[in-house]
Amino acid sequence: MESVTLNNGVEMPTLGLGTFKVKGYEVVRRALDAALGQGYRSFDTAAVYQNEADIGRALKELLPAHGLSRGEVFITSKLAPADQGAAEEGCRRSLAALDCGYLDLYLVHWPGRQGWRSEDPRNPECRRRSWEAMERLHRDGKLRAIGVSNYTGGHLRELLAHCRVRPAVLQVECHPRLAQSELRALCAESGLHLQAYSSLGSGRLLEEPVVRALAERLGRTPAQVLLRWALQQGVGVIPKSTDPRRIAQNARVFDFRLAEGDMRALSGLHSGTRYCWDPSTVV
Ligand code: A2P
Repeated sequence: MESVTLNNGVEMPTLGLGTFKVKGYEVVRRALDAALGQGYRSFDTAAVYQNEADIGRALKELLPAHGLSRGEVFITSKLAPADQGAAEEGCRRSLAALDCGYLDLYLVHWPGRQGWRSEDPRNPECRRRSWEAMERLHRDGKLRAIGVSNYTGGHLRELLAHCRVRPAVLQVECHPRLAQSELRALCAESGLHLQAYSSLGSGRLLEEPVVRALAERLGRTPAQVLLRWALQQGVGVIPKSTDPRRIAQNARVFDFRLAEGDMRALSGLHSGTRYCWDPSTVV
């Protein structure tokens, strides 16, 4: 499994298993078992996914079975928007649910606070309080790295202006139809690793004709082509699947490269289309 060195020296695998909507102990256990068997060492969850306790329990059981220890896997979780401004409590709940002494990465999940309107002028101060609490948790060794998710360039610049611990990761929706070139440039110049969610367009890009034709010509699957497009630009990926065959397929993305012309053809699909949430209205 390939990895990237974050701006604080922490190593993070560039491929992880996404777990949004992966729910129920047996489903979680089966997905994690397949992923560990295929070499995945990174798992992405969030308080709002309501699967942290199942993931924690499954890892307790599966790590020894795969001959692994906690230190050999990378666990990411995220602060629930309902806990925005109260990150200490949110993080401690995630640690308890996952039954972990520390997290490898903890992200502010959303720039706003649940229950507040996007335009609520208290949002900036609230997410600032979250960040300051996360800085303390990082200093205390509870969080090896801290970062943000669903931040726009504006949110990120605001954070970079006041932070004492620089964010290590920005996780956003990113795929050929939403190429995020501006955020990629901002991350590159500010030393953040950009991690994509919804690399497959929540499954909808798998039928895209350019993607399909390319996959056919290369003898790969559409999912592998989409993941490769991200990885080849230094963008990390966390494809979600509960199907052991797809979990295996999504891990076989390090043994081929897309030619420059093919990368260009995929990037040419950019249309600004979002399949998930749009954070740009959050002040
Ligand atoms: P499933 O869990 O049934 O495999 P994204 O990561 O963009 O959100 O996409 C996730 C969606 O794509 C899920 O619905 C998942 O369904 C599906 N998926 C994941 N990997 C593959 C794959 N290799 N081939 C086809 N569909 C996939």
